Amino acid sequence: MRLTISRKSHFNAAHRLFNKNWDDKKNQLVFGKCNNPNYHGHNYELIVHVTGELDPETGFVMDLKELSDLIKAEIEEAFDHKNLNLDVAEFAELNPTAENIAVVIWKKLRPFISEDKDLEVVLYETARNFVSFKGDF
Ligand code: NI
Repeated sequence: MRLTISRKSHFNAAHRLFNKNWDDKKNQLVFGKCNNPNYHGHNYELIVHVTGELDPETGFVMDLKELSDLIKAEIEEAFDHKNLNLDVAEFAELNPTAENIAVVIWKKLRPFISEDKDLEVVLYETARNFVSFKGDF
């Protein structure tokens, strides 16, 4: 019997979307307001789904406290109240779009989730705009 457990989390962070290989005009055309040179912030909402077999001894797929602690340590500590472009090494050369942030979060969490379980990351950049990543490379 396979079930999915989920944990919600959030962090506030600033970013700027731009491609350093493009001129200002093209960056403005493609990224619009998100290209603001002085950055802007989002209240990111994160949902982490872990799917796996129900352990008959614990009745858990995974201990949600463990998942909660993991998200806090690996994601909230790294991203909350940070400038993603300047403060987070993963985005030094990677545009911090919602898509790329979701992939980075997935990569940071995956080593801590046992291999027999599936991991999906859903990241809301606004209440209406969100992306999901299941590790499809
Ligand atoms: Ni933005």
